[in-house]
Amino acid sequence: MAASSESPVLVLGGGLMGLAVAHQLARAGQAVEVLSRRRSEAAGFVAAGMLAPHAEGLSGALLQLGQLSLERVPAWVAQIEADSGLSCGLRPCGIVVPFATAAERDVYPTAAWGEALTREGLERELPGIGPGWQAGLLFRQDGQIDNRRQLMRALERACVELGVRFQEGVEVLELLQEGDRLRGVRVRDAAATVQTLEAATAVLCSGAWSAQLLPQLPVFPVKGQMLSLQGPREALQRVIFGPGTYLVPREDGLLVVGATSEREAGFTEGLTPFGQRQLQAGIEALLPEASQWPPMERWWGFRPCTPDEGPLLGPSAVTGLWLATGHHRNGVLLAAITAELLGACLQPGGCSPAQQALLNSFRWDRFNG
Ligand code: GLY
Repeated sequence: MAASSESPVLVLGGGLMGLAVAHQLARAGQAVEVLSRRRSEAAGFVAAGMLAPHAEGLSGALLQLGQLSLERVPAWVAQIEADSGLSCGLRPCGIVVPFATAAERDVYPTAAWGEALTREGLERELPGIGPGWQAGLLFRQDGQIDNRRQLMRALERACVELGVRFQEGVEVLELLQEGDRLRGVRVRDAAATVQTLEAATAVLCSGAWSAQLLPQLPVFPVKGQMLSLQGPREALQRVIFGPGTYLVPREDGLLVVGATSEREAGFTEGLTPFGQRQLQAGIEALLPEASQWPPMERWWGFRPCTPDEGPLLGPSAVTGLWLATGHHRNGVLLAAITAELLGACLQPGGCSPAQQALLNSFRWDRFNG
């Protein structure tokens, strides 16, 4: 359903999904207002920026969604770059998944989409790879984007250029309804003033915090700790996606290292010695020389996870409230298709049958029996 041109669509959350959806709606001529509590906590700033449906070993509808999004990324990025005048740092560099044995490689869920590598092939693709890896899969179609330093900034600028309004430091306290229809939201602004914003249409993009706003959403945080190192510019050309640790080389040699996956941590903030040691051990196993590279930054964040690790997309139980949340490990990859689907939902004509079929796989209530 379309919102009237006078009342803006409220986007609840200024992270990657919020920005991507706001950009899409603004391009379609919609008035949009983004409410953001603290943009720095958004998973879009925390992620490593991998575009990795195959390297992640996805399957079923999530693999299909990921592959569709991967196809759309070049055009999506080109549009953001045109609207913002800024580069997004897209790097279609391929990703290698290393294995201890060829037998492990051959049963990987997405093996059919990759190129099988022997030890010799691994050494050719990843000079300096650790000795523990005897086989690999090269996914040339996977890649990365510099989400932390480039994509988020470019997307925000593109939104501003298209007239999207931003309210920063605003916490959405409550959704307001009239019967089962959205009426607006109650917010606390940066000056701690509580007020009501009327809205007939909103998109919930609140990531790991989504269930705090709509408790029936099965979204919970999975903490990830990360770090970066400064390597020589050409040292590593492809992403290495190891078990428990991955190494993502940016164009300028910065190596982004991720990530712990801590389900028990809840919203506990901060780095832990255990988590950081896990990353160090992963670096040592995957690319021993990188252990000598100077450390740059360490950080953590919260992935929005769901019981089947797929996102929640499309309508909610509240008429006028739409969902774009729960992207877990695949938010950067899925931002392009998420924006497209939500954009279609909010257009007067609604979704195409193909889009509707896709959305059906990612309904918020698919876990209810
Ligand atoms: N996309 C990888 C991760 O969430 O760690």
